[in-house]
Amino acid sequence: MIITAPALLILLGTSVVLQADLRPDEKFLLLPPVNFTIKVTGLAQVLLHWEPNPDREQRNVNLEYQVKINAPQEDDYETRNTESKCVTILHKGFSASVRTILWNDHSLLASNWVFAELQVPQGSPGTSIVNLTCTTNTVADNGMHLRPYQVSLHCTWLVGKDAPEDTQYFLYYRYGSCTEECQDYNKDSLERNVACWFPRTFIHSKGRDWLAVYVNGSSKHATIKPFDQLFALHAIDQVNPPLNVTAEIEGTRLSIQWEKPVSAFPIHCFDYEVKIYNTRNGYFQTEKMTTNAFISIIDDLSKYCIQVRAAVSSVCRETGLWSEWSQPIYVGNDEQKPLAEWFLIVLTATVCFVLLIFSLICRMCHLWAKLCPPVPAPKSSINDLFVTIHYEKAGSGETEIEVVSYVEDPGFETLEDSVF
Ligand SMILES: *[C@@H]1O[C@H](CO)[C@@H](O)[C@H](O)[C@H]1NC(C)=O
Ligand SMILES: *[C@@H]1O[C@H](CO)[C@@H](O)[C@H](O)[C@H]1NC(C)=O
Ligand SMILES: *[C@@H]1O[C@H](CO)[C@@H](O)[C@H](O)[C@H]1NC(C)=O
Ligand SMILES: *[C@@H]1O[C@H](CO)[C@@H](O)[C@H](O)[C@H]1NC(C)=O
Repeated sequence: MIITAPALLILLGTSVVLQADLRPDEKFLLLPPVNFTIKVTGLAQVLLHWEPNPDREQRNVNLEYQVKINAPQEDDYETRNTESKCVTILHKGFSASVRTILWNDHSLLASNWVFAELQVPQGSPGTSIVNLTCTTNTVADNGMHLRPYQVSLHCTWLVGKDAPEDTQYFLYYRYGSCTEECQDYNKDSLERNVACWFPRTFIHSKGRDWLAVYVNGSSKHATIKPFDQLFALHAIDQVNPPLNVTAEIEGTRLSIQWEKPVSAFPIHCFDYEVKIYNTRNGYFQTEKMTTNAFISIIDDLSKYCIQVRAAVSSVCRETGLWSEWSQPIYVGNDEQKPLAEWFLIVLTATVCFVLLIFSLICRMCHLWAKLCPPVPAPKSSINDLFVTIHYEKAGSGETEIEVVSYVEDPGFETLEDSVF
């Protein structure tokens, strides 16, 4: 018979009386639970189950159970239930013990232990994968699915040092009750899978469950030892960098703004770090912020390089990784001041010089105008030109062509020219 929680609660009220009824020799006759089993219920997940000792059952005593996990990692807890779920790696085997206990006037009465175990999975040594690392990343879902955000998963590993060349590995992950096999592998030079990419998963980015990853394999020459590992989401989540970082300088105020990263976490869940790099003197300033804006007073006219990164703050979950820095943005200008000054100086000097030359020319023109007669009329000018050309013609045959191109109104003059 399974003692259910409500039944136990009813029993609680009567337990004091019943315990008082126990004779001293009975204290040492607590009987251990029976039919203790360990069942694998999922990747890196087992269910421990036992039954109350049938001989003990009719005593109606307020019994509890103490569970001790021996491997792979020691743990010890008490429960009134007759089953218990454990999330743990299984590639090193699993073993646990359970016993019946009874607290009586702050002294513990306990039965013998019953023991159960799962064997270490079969496989040749050195064939399982090593150095498994996984990261998750949140991407905005473009309306194709119900959830506004999707979590992608990327895992990489190294081939076991003694794995045969024909080894092939297969990766599975479990989150909550969902298990999926990888469909998109990267391979090494021997075509063995060494990385896996899930563009979307059942992982909840704000969830607190463990992520279980399991990698088994096959080969014609050896049994490949499977490997599993548990990951805490906060420790492997690669946060996106802040969005739309902008900066502007007004006088001596450098103001920087940004938006929260693509993430299922709301706006108040982020810590930021702002990095301001003065490109002129190489000085770095980093500031930790919890708001989406930062104002700095600058006394140095320079070009600044600004980057911001984000992390989910401890307000919303356990401290994890910083995002990458946002793309650098530049504000202000290093060269502007000296360049502008030089430009002004050169411009002023040039203008002064040109004015000086001009005035000199004007004066000379003035003198010239006084000394020389007025400019001749256009018609006579053309005639003059022809006079000159005719004069030159005497010396060279080539000039003939030039003449044609120079004269705007050919007419008899050209004819006259060619005849010449
Ligand atoms: C324990 O298991 C055996 C065999 O499976 C079964 O006959 C027996 O009824 C079980 N005992 C209890 C208390 O469930
Ligand atoms: C793999 O992990 C081991 C320790 O677990 C470490 O010593 C080794 O350097 C790692 N190898 C690589 C290539 O990262
Ligand atoms: C690997 O594990 C999965 C899930 O447990 C199983 O379905 C598959 O048959 C295993 N493959 C090999 C080669 O052992
Ligand atoms: C970032 O800016 C772009 C355009 O400047 C805008 O379309 C987008 O909505 C902004 N992102 C957020 C998260 O507001």
